[in-house]
Amino acid sequence: MSTNVQKWKFSGTDGNFILQDPHQTSYLYFPLVNEAGMMSSITPLFHGDIKANHNTFLSEPVSAESLHNSRASRNFWVYAEGAGPWSCAGNSAIQHTRHFAAAEPAEREQVKLEAGFLWHKLTRESPLLSLKSEVVSFIPAGPDKVELMKVTLTNTGDRAITVTPTAAIPLYGRSADDLRDHRHVTSLLHRIYTSAGGIEVQPALSFDERGHRVNTVTYTVLGREGDGGNPAGFFPAAEGFIGEGGSYEWPEAVVLNSPPQAGPGAVLEGLEAAGAIRFNDATIQPGDSKVYIVAMAITEDRIDEEYFKREYMSEAQFDRLLEKTKAYWHGKVDAVQFHSADQEFDLWMKWVTLQPILRRLYGNSFMPHHDYGRGGRGWRDLWQDCLALMIMEPEEVRGLLFNNFAGVRIDGSNATIIGRLPGEFVADRNNIPRVWMDHGAWPFLTTLFYLNQSGDLDFLLQEQTYFKDAFVNRCKGRDESWTPESGNLLRTAGGGIYRGTILEHILLQHLTPFYLAGEHNHMRLEGADWNDGLDMAADRGESVAFTAFYAGNLRELGAVLRELRQRTGSGKVDLAEEMLVLFDSLDHPVDYDSVSGKHEVLNRYYGQVAGTVSGRRKAVDISLIAGDLERKASWTENHLRSKEWIASKDGSEWFNGYYNNDGDRVEGDHPDGVRMTLTGQVFPIMSGVATEEQVGAVIQAVNRHLLDSRIGYRLNSRFGSIQQNLGRAFGFAFGHKENGAMFSHMTVMYANALYKRGFVKEGKAVLDSIYSLCADFGQSRIYPGIPEYINEQGRGMYHYLTGSASWLLLTLLIEVYGVKGRMGDLLLEPKLSSEQFDADGKASVKARFAGRHFHIVYHNPARKDYGSYHIDLCVLNGEAASYEAVSGGCVLSRSLLSGLPDDRLHVLELRLE
Ligand code: G1P
Repeated sequence: MSTNVQKWKFSGTDGNFILQDPHQTSYLYFPLVNEAGMMSSITPLFHGDIKANHNTFLSEPVSAESLHNSRASRNFWVYAEGAGPWSCAGNSAIQHTRHFAAAEPAEREQVKLEAGFLWHKLTRESPLLSLKSEVVSFIPAGPDKVELMKVTLTNTGDRAITVTPTAAIPLYGRSADDLRDHRHVTSLLHRIYTSAGGIEVQPALSFDERGHRVNTVTYTVLGREGDGGNPAGFFPAAEGFIGEGGSYEWPEAVVLNSPPQAGPGAVLEGLEAAGAIRFNDATIQPGDSKVYIVAMAITEDRIDEEYFKREYMSEAQFDRLLEKTKAYWHGKVDAVQFHSADQEFDLWMKWVTLQPILRRLYGNSFMPHHDYGRGGRGWRDLWQDCLALMIMEPEEVRGLLFNNFAGVRIDGSNATIIGRLPGEFVADRNNIPRVWMDHGAWPFLTTLFYLNQSGDLDFLLQEQTYFKDAFVNRCKGRDESWTPESGNLLRTAGGGIYRGTILEHILLQHLTPFYLAGEHNHMRLEGADWNDGLDMAADRGESVAFTAFYAGNLRELGAVLRELRQRTGSGKVDLAEEMLVLFDSLDHPVDYDSVSGKHEVLNRYYGQVAGTVSGRRKAVDISLIAGDLERKASWTENHLRSKEWIASKDGSEWFNGYYNNDGDRVEGDHPDGVRMTLTGQVFPIMSGVATEEQVGAVIQAVNRHLLDSRIGYRLNSRFGSIQQNLGRAFGFAFGHKENGAMFSHMTVMYANALYKRGFVKEGKAVLDSIYSLCADFGQSRIYPGIPEYINEQGRGMYHYLTGSASWLLLTLLIEVYGVKGRMGDLLLEPKLSSEQFDADGKASVKARFAGRHFHIVYHNPARKDYGSYHIDLCVLNGEAASYEAVSGGCVLSRSLLSGLPDDRLHVLELRLE
């Protein structure tokens, strides 16, 4: 792969960027989206799809490979008198032959991309035609599912040019399922209508997994001249537009400059539709321009054309809506703004800041690289995305968290199909359900963050329902008495709906995996853990890595409970009486060294909650529960430290992270080379299980066995063969995805863990590595932002929709800038390195806390390094503020901050001495 490619460059301070020759990079795509549910991706050749959900695609669904394998995409054609057809997208057969840099200079088109939040502008200039096109695309922030495109054609020569413009948007208009299933038959459902302004397709029926239903959803392409002129006519059917033997990149209607095949009022049936709109011939004088607006809309029924014309179809409206849309997105991403010595990094972070919102809107499915492609979102992603949303959209979060807890089952596992509505969880009709053993750990991590940010401990005492389906005992059994008609809410024996506190939900999520120990007395791997690809060790596999995570949670939960007791003064909490058996320390303590002893407890519990619960609750002393959790935490920590600390022949030492389905330890020396995972290190460090010395040793082992100078910190070392006793991940080529790529999510969590434990220099090296890999466009070939992973070739993959963005934002704010809640108060504990302070010795962040906007400015005139400074003065809006000094930082009370007006930016200055 060539590396002498010019990278994108930021222009100005808003995060806008420019990329020359973007069309010479494959797989580049950019998101366009709105809260109304319109989702698009767009490439430099205007490829990418436009859709509202899995069953509602305006254009044909694409995956990464179809971006170049098929060129049936948005296009805007010009037939220039005397010169012939030319595509503003560069998507014509003839332009493809001149595509590469080797084209004759006289033929080489100048192509430039400019993009920002969230708009995409492509400028293409043809020296042969003396014509420049500028195409701006965006989805207006507003109530409609509509993507807009403004095309400006400018005559750059010294003679008048006469052009015949044609917008061409292939209209697929149906469910993604129909790509293979019934592709042709579903086109027979198409009813195509033309009007004065464009072409509509309203399929008569929809064929998808919901059955065959009468359809009203309509897919429309409208076109208008910028100053209001209607189109000249239409080519409403694909076959008529491309012609026999033609294609979307060499369509007969354009190449032969044929007259339109239909005017307004035409009705066609049973054909693949084309949103091909012919405009009137136009003569453009030297230096002059001509503007066209194209709209692509999805509506619930036939379109209200007058409304769309008024709202969208003029240059003035387009420009107004574009500004409104930019302001909307800036309102989101500017919620957190970093300022350091490296402005380029700060601007790059703006794109990372946007990403959690993109995942909220797109799930994991609707970009050209996608995992599960049907629009589902995963349980752990749901919770981790909330981390960032809490920083950016805090108002929404309490309700979101509360609703999500309704997905927990009484056995501590959870529903895996997440419905469209908040708090809606759907029974898995699949007969081989899985439990991902890490799922119980994330909700508490997110809830703890929420409690720290807000101090809202009452949240733990709110009551929520439990999810119920046919699966019991963490999907190892079936409740034959359950039927879909009995619904997805857990009931009491008396038939009422059972509700327990959020605390009760969290406790169950930790206690059942604690007792579900494998033969080495770590938590069982079950269906998999964070690494979805470790899915072939359900019988005997153990996740040591996540056992450490749960141990850390048990300890923190104990501390939260003690805080709850102190703050509320209430000594007891109500818990389902069945679960008391899980707090063994309360009456007959179990020997945790005994795996069978643990299983007995769990089986007793399972036996009581298999169908319904009694509904009876017992008030239990909070300190006794806290003590029980702490006993479990201590036992686990000791067990991990003493049993899983391993050494290799080369003298490296680290934590083993897994046992496989043969019950064998996974990590350490092996005839095929040293086997090591990053996951196995991250959670012992983050949870506090690893001692200070162990952290130091792990860092060295990671640097030796996982750090690669080309692609950074790998998720695992090369295992050398497929691992049928561990998981499908090892079937992937080494260096890709969950087998040894630089998997951003885990690498960012590694950095987070190092910062959390005070290993700042080492944590920064990890963050720097991620950033430089992503920002090295010649290798990564992605726009600004963080991808799911960097592959063996250095390419950024699955851009935009990744949980790593949430974690990176969080790590920067909470750890590096040290701005975090402590049970509702504001704790400032910077871990900034000397080189992060600008020339004036300043580093700052704008962020929200306690419903107020703050500009938090650290002054470090001597640019001292972390470890050699402490906060010695705190000034709020120009006046010395009272604070409590704590090790490494200071705490400002919530009452001080929430007393400030909420309509302005407050400046909090901290002097580092
Ligand atoms: C993706 C999934 C995440 C999973 C990870 C590893 O990561 O979304 O749930 O844990 O792969 O299998 P992401 O895209 O969030 O970086």
